[in-house]
Amino acid sequence: MKKNILIIPGDGIGQEVTTWGKKVLEKISEKYGHDFAFDEAIMGHVAIEATGNPLPDETLEKARKSDAILFGAIGHAKYDNDPSAKVRPEQGLLKIRKELGLYANLRPILLFDELLNASSLKPEILKGTDILFFRELTGDVYFGEKHRSNDRNFASDLMNYNRYEIERITIKAFEAAQRRSKRLCSVDKANVLETSRLWREVVQEIAQQYPDVETEHMFIDNAAMQLVKNPKKFDVVLTANLFGDILTDEASQIAGSMGMLASASIGDGTGFFEPIHGSAHDIAGQNKANPLASILSVALMLEISFGLKEEAAFVTKAVADTLKAGFRTLDIADNTTSPELILGTKEMGAKVLEAFAEKKNVVYS
Ligand code: IPM
Ligand code: MG
Repeated sequence: MKKNILIIPGDGIGQEVTTWGKKVLEKISEKYGHDFAFDEAIMGHVAIEATGNPLPDETLEKARKSDAILFGAIGHAKYDNDPSAKVRPEQGLLKIRKELGLYANLRPILLFDELLNASSLKPEILKGTDILFFRELTGDVYFGEKHRSNDRNFASDLMNYNRYEIERITIKAFEAAQRRSKRLCSVDKANVLETSRLWREVVQEIAQQYPDVETEHMFIDNAAMQLVKNPKKFDVVLTANLFGDILTDEASQIAGSMGMLASASIGDGTGFFEPIHGSAHDIAGQNKANPLASILSVALMLEISFGLKEEAAFVTKAVADTLKAGFRTLDIADNTTSPELILGTKEMGAKVLEAFAEKKNVVYS
């Protein structure tokens, strides 16, 4: 299979982690006889420094032409502490999501048994959890009109949704629920927000076309609580942009660390694959970042954008085997991990590639 893949490392630890995602793609193409060609582009703080624009036209052009995009991370502490900055790295990410029509953000909460103790939640609460979030990604308060009064003392962000924006992601979530355990929980705040009442109306309507799926509606505040109380009760979770942003960071603690979670942003065109973690400037360039979320994002790319199920399963298995062998990066180590098993970014990435080599002739379903 011939594919053009664009790598956008972005900011902070993005460069370090995408290096390993790319190496995994190279290994896969070698092992399975694919022809993956790579190009690279800039976005975020690095792009502001180089061009003044967080998403240069050239990057968008390359993105449109590629078959899939592997993205690293975005952001810089400099802007976090300066709310008055007009040009911000995150604008690059939001713009590319909008321009490429990436309206559905899939965030699987993949829980490796080996990491049950890495979470601050009790292992018996976590074991067996398997959640797939569908976070709407191109609407909501993220993209509504923003306003600041002339005297700077009043601000507003408009939360808005169109029916079609809710419909298209709802259909995708129901289709996924049918392939999984046939349970879907839609999360909103319909007791307060008009956008949520529209959301609930649309989900209720579409649910009728999927009578085999058990549909539940939950308020966001309750969902945030249930997620740590009894995460196993969830399977497919469908929610709006802002609620999904917050809930998935919370849910990352079920998987042990933000450093473990991959995501796929899809829509009508090119797919965009990225870890859910941020740029982590405090550890950037120190060989401390966990490359597994980037590697697992590659697995999602192989499966979702290219339909390469076997290759995707192979990558996930290599990650599982590396964890099974006891290797950990700092973020997923616990007080029982012996120091010689705590690896840096490069060493962890290399271990996953070694796990590939050891499984040359095994076929995973
Ligand atoms: C995410 C991030 C982004 C978001 C930021 C970096 C703009 O937190 O992908 O979850 O809020 O969507
Ligand atoms: Mg987020």
